Amino acid sequence: MSQPELSMVVLISGSGSNLQAIIDATQNGIVPAKISAVICNKESAYGLKRAADAGIPTVVISHKDFDSREDFDQALQAKIDHFSPELVVLAGFMRILTPEFVRHYSGRMLNIHPSLLPKYRGLNTHQRAIEDGESEHGVTVHFVTEELDGGPNVLQARVPISSSETADTLAAKILIQEHQIYPRAIKWFAQGRLKMEGSQASLDQTLLSESGEQHIDGASE
Ligand code: GRF
Repeated sequence: MSQPELSMVVLISGSGSNLQAIIDATQNGIVPAKISAVICNKESAYGLKRAADAGIPTVVISHKDFDSREDFDQALQAKIDHFSPELVVLAGFMRILTPEFVRHYSGRMLNIHPSLLPKYRGLNTHQRAIEDGESEHGVTVHFVTEELDGGPNVLQARVPISSSETADTLAAKILIQEHQIYPRAIKWFAQGRLKMEGSQASLDQTLLSESGEQHIDGASE
């Protein structure tokens, strides 16, 4: 009997290139999961077209229609829960989330952040890493907790920073890595191998280090 598919909802705000990588990985059988819906807070986001092209239901819910962050998050939660997902995937969802919302999805919400967390939480990570003279930068998949970009790390990919690097060239290099590591981490979760245990993530019942698992280009297991 084939493995049952995990149901997930993906939240986006923009281009949705990570969403596309996840769609591709579910369609070609690499990730045993199904995207029940894509929810977006921006009507103009290109990621909505990617979802529609793949036949995935889309929902737009604009934060501008709500008086407070709490009201928006409550409405967002209701939209998500309508699809009863086992996993919520933040893929470029550019919103700070309320503690109540985050707690509701504790242990079943993942995010991807373009830095080697715990370094460079927040925005403009590429520029900040270059200005600090870092020799490497990267991207992290992590469980979401109440601390912004602070939940347990799952998987990281590293890229070297060259002497001629700009924020744009670095972002492009990192995006390639993002598209490898997000499907890989989601696959682990769908297989029941990845869990959040307190302040750490575990893979195959082994606690991961603070940095999380380290990705090597091309690895898929
Ligand atoms: C990515 O850089 C991701 O790390 C960050 O937002 C960006 C989303 O890009 N959280 P895309 O919409 O998936 O193309």
